[in-house]
Amino acid sequence: MSRIAYVNGRYRDMRDASVNIEDRGYQFADGVYEVCEVRYGKLVDQPRHMARLERSLHELRIAMPMPLASLSVVLHEVVRRNRVQHGIVYLQVTRGVARRDHGFPTKPVRPAVVVTARSLDPAKGKDNAARGIKVITLPENRWPRVDIKSTALLPNVLAKQAARDAGAYEAWYVDPHGYVTEGSSSNAWIVTKDGRVVTRSAQSGILAGITRSVLIDAFEKLQIRFEERPFTPAEAADAAEAFVTAASMIVMPVVAIDGHSIGNGKPGAVAKRLRESFHDFAVLS
Ligand code: PDD
Repeated sequence: MSRIAYVNGRYRDMRDASVNIEDRGYQFADGVYEVCEVRYGKLVDQPRHMARLERSLHELRIAMPMPLASLSVVLHEVVRRNRVQHGIVYLQVTRGVARRDHGFPTKPVRPAVVVTARSLDPAKGKDNAARGIKVITLPENRWPRVDIKSTALLPNVLAKQAARDAGAYEAWYVDPHGYVTEGSSSNAWIVTKDGRVVTRSAQSGILAGITRSVLIDAFEKLQIRFEERPFTPAEAADAAEAFVTAASMIVMPVVAIDGHSIGNGKPGAVAKRLRESFHDFAVLS
């Protein structure tokens, strides 16, 4: 089956879909994106993702390309046309097409919108979670505005590849003070030996992950003690458990950091429980 993308107002076979070479997303990475999990053909936590999209666009002074209700119709239509039951939907909004010049276009341009969707095999995610993943650490080398979900991801691309080259799945950035910020495409967490779940505040150094915020809201009901504070790679190596969160991975246990086993080297009980209960707290629409 051929894959279908929404590109600037049309649903196109992906083999024929194209964008203008002077799209500022292509030339400057001047745009933002969202990735939503798809479950049973529906979007997971769509309102939170749309709120973050609006915020990212606002920070870059790009207009919302269409009303939220219309955008929702497009997202669902791309999911439907690609027959995605379980997977992800990707939405990208760039500033639009203009003659190459670093400053914003002087005449108003229409933001460019691309939406794609693809299936992910839930069994694969389950297998990965049962094994747990390894992470490496790298010095933070991104710009300070990582709170904006920008398509400018070159440091993240290099970090993910460095992880793969080292036989790991994710790279955790470490800020100049020696604290973990987040992963190249996920938020970073540990569980202390006395059962407290710890992640860095979204005030600085990280993207305010949607999976992260849903979990934080669930801790009270789950009777899990939670601390929002930074931690070091050494504390993570000595922790009972660690895990990462992202829309594409939900909760993924981490079993090693820089070659040191975490806990007993197997996925931890808290991470497993959070992975299993996450969708009880997520909103499908
Ligand atoms: N990544 N931090 C970074 C740098 C990310 O790229 C992501 C998500 C997250 C987690 O955010 P959320 O829980 O909202 O997915 C944190 C997406 C999945 C991606 O780039 O593919």
